[in-house]
Amino acid sequence: MPWWWHARRSEAELRSVAPSPSTEASPVLVDVAGRRRFQDMPYLLPKDQQELNRLDYQHYVLRQVFRGNVLAPVQDLLREGTAVLDVGTGTGRWAIEVAEAFPRCRVVGFDREPARSSQGLPPGFRFVQGDLLQGLPFADATFGYVHQRLLVAGIPLAQWPAVLRELLRVTRRGGWIELVELGLGFFPQGPCLQQIVTWWQQLSVARGMDASQLFLLGRWLREAGALQVEQRTCWLPVGRWGGRLGQLLAQDLLVAAGTLEAPVEGLGVSVARFHEILEGLAREWEEGQVTYEVYTAWGRKP
Ligand SMILES: C[S@@+](CC[C@H](N)C(=O)[O-])C[C@H]1O[C@@H](n2cnc3c(N)ncnc32)[C@H](O)[C@@H]1O
Repeated sequence: MPWWWHARRSEAELRSVAPSPSTEASPVLVDVAGRRRFQDMPYLLPKDQQELNRLDYQHYVLRQVFRGNVLAPVQDLLREGTAVLDVGTGTGRWAIEVAEAFPRCRVVGFDREPARSSQGLPPGFRFVQGDLLQGLPFADATFGYVHQRLLVAGIPLAQWPAVLRELLRVTRRGGWIELVELGLGFFPQGPCLQQIVTWWQQLSVARGMDASQLFLLGRWLREAGALQVEQRTCWLPVGRWGGRLGQLLAQDLLVAAGTLEAPVEGLGVSVARFHEILEGLAREWEEGQVTYEVYTAWGRKP
């Protein structure tokens, strides 16, 4: 019987349950101008403490936006207890909160690199390491709910269909897949915002990624074979004009944009020019009352 069917297992038992064997080697990370980055993956963002702090902060912003952690209609399933997978779990904050809120669930946080020690984690949570682009190290139909949030900087455009098929493969019949993404949907775009978006796109395209296509999330999920697909796009205010939420989001986006400093230097842009553009952002989102699109989609495994 699969491990997640046992309603209550001890933490030790839970940890002893291995996923199907993975041939994954450890990730290769290098220091680039003071930021730690993956060298063996297309992932565009850094992977260091500073970035982990930003991801935690961003998690709280998104939880406030959605008034919770869960969008798909899975509340009953979670209360009854099911196996949950969080793909590209980052700090694991989302997965840990779900494990705490729904103690009958077994929640797996999957990422290329663990972000924290196993101390003090809820008994229902465990971390599994691997590379999503090489496939998930889980058997078919393992999970009742699969969640993937903010892999925009990690999945090349051509690989989205295969990734979504892989998420469906590990979802059991009748189970749900939920996707949350940010892209380049800023409106309106003043010259500084436009420049940041252009740099982001140049860097992404060089890695095979295209953040301008994320509004197609729902269609991609349907094409991968999911049923009852719902796509919702939210428009969030960026900047002080948008009250507390706008301020929080602006802060997150400024820090995220700042991570591009070293990669943009590789495009021949000086540090001074980069900071000049970065400093213009705060003014532009107040003047233009900029909004930012968040794409969400969920669907069911037939
Ligand atoms: C922007 S973070 C989002 C983290 C988390 N989902 C959240 O919403 O806070 C993206 C995460 O995906 C992970 N990631 C990127 N490419 C990956 C891959 N090919 N395989 C596994 N994890 C990957 C990164 O290590 C990082 O932790």
